[in-house]
Amino acid sequence: MMRPSGPEPPPLLRIAALTKRFGGFTALDNVSVDIRPGERFGLIGPNGSGKTTLINCISGAFRTEAGTVVFRDEDITRCSRTCARAAALRAVSRSRGRSKA
Ligand SMILES: Nc1ncnc2c1ncn2[C@@H]1O[C@H](COP(=O)(O)OP(=O)(O)OP(=O)(O)O)[C@@H](O)[C@H]1O
Ligand SMILES: [Mg+2]
Repeated sequence: MMRPSGPEPPPLLRIAALTKRFGGFTALDNVSVDIRPGERFGLIGPNGSGKTTLINCISGAFRTEAGTVVFRDEDITRCSRTCARAAALRAVSRSRGRSKA
C-alpha cells in the first residue's frame, strides 16, 4: 500500500498472533495484522479459510486460544461483543471530538 512519507502512525487495530481452535481443528493459526488509520483492509481467501472466524474473534463473538486484539491502545481480546462495540463507539466519539477542535 502507498503511504505518505514520514513516520508510520500507530495501528488503529493490532491483531497479534491470534489462534482460534474448534476442538482439535485450528481455524486461525498465529494470525497477525496491523491496520493503520486511513487504510482500507481487505480479507480474501477460499471458503473455510477463516475470514468469518477472524472477524468473530475481533468482534468478541468468539474467544481465542491465544493472541491479542488491541483497538486504539485498548486491549479488547477478552471483550464481549458489547464491550468491543463500546470500545469502537468511544473511539468514534473521541475522533469526532478531535475533528471539532
Ligand atoms: N462454530 C464452528 N465450529 C466448528 N468449526 C467451525 C466453526 N466456525 C467455523 N468453523 C471452521 O473453521 C474454518 C474457517 O471457517 P470460516 O467460516 O471462518 O471460513 P470463511 O473463510 O469465512 O469461509 P467462507 O468463505 O465460506 O465464508 C472452516 O473449516 C470451518 O468449518
Ligand atoms: Mg465466511
